Amino acid sequence: MDKESTGALSKALLPLGKMFTKSRDWIIARSGLERFMEETEGKTVPKHALNPAYCLGGVTLVAFLILALTGFFLANYYEPSEGGAQRSIQIISTELPFGFYAKSIHSWAANVMVIAVLLHVLRVFITGSYKNPRELTWMGGVILLVFTFLFVLTGYVLPMDERSEFAITSMSGAFGWLRGIPHVGGVFNWASDTVGEALTGSYWMHVTVLPIAIILFLLVHFYLIRKHGISGPL
Ligand code: HEM
Repeated sequence: MDKESTGALSKALLPLGKMFTKSRDWIIARSGLERFMEETEGKTVPKHALNPAYCLGGVTLVAFLILALTGFFLANYYEPSEGGAQRSIQIISTELPFGFYAKSIHSWAANVMVIAVLLHVLRVFITGSYKNPRELTWMGGVILLVFTFLFVLTGYVLPMDERSEFAITSMSGAFGWLRGIPHVGGVFNWASDTVGEALTGSYWMHVTVLPIAIILFLLVHFYLIRKHGISGPL
């Protein structure tokens, strides 16, 4: 890009930048976040936390963001029905431009997220970072771990292959009893042992309920991390 067009581009983007800064300041001033921003301003990462073991939460987050991005793409082409699931995955893998890459990156990122989160828990446990004042960060983390496993199991159901059978049996065995709860039992259809019900329920869990729930809990997790700072060295 030559100098003239770079100048024109930055001129065109200037009002957008100003609008962004104004909206951000508007939200901060009205949400009470102002005090929080002041409290946390200038906090730096301590030296001992530059150790790779302290980056595992971050690796988990990056893997999750990649999953969200590729998942959003795949959800546009996946068909959550007993007859259509396998066919739509076949189309994604063989005919859709970038489909094969999106699907492969999605499953690799899922493996990375699970391994990273387990190692993250191990690091937090070994360094005793779950102790006062970080008990809530730990308890919220346990819920994040449950959400991560539910993501994996509901994700396994979607391709309707031999692994789906394993996921349906595991989920109905562990959580099937929840379907007996009066009035709200239907919410737990993902734990049904009937294939059709399990597929529809798993799809909703995987693309709607779990993403919203995990994002909310992640926001709380990061708020608490920011509030307490990273725990001290061993
Ligand atoms: C989706 C899953 C998760 C993400 C993305 C995540 C992310 C993070 C990040 C970025 C940090 C900052 C320090 C670091 O990276 O080590 C952190 C700290 C922490 N996490 Fe997680 N985490 C997750 C799950 C969990 C789980 C399952 C637990 C425990 C059961 C947990 C407990 C904690 C605690 C106690 C800290 C504070 C550690 C300290 O101050 O040294 N997290 N998390």
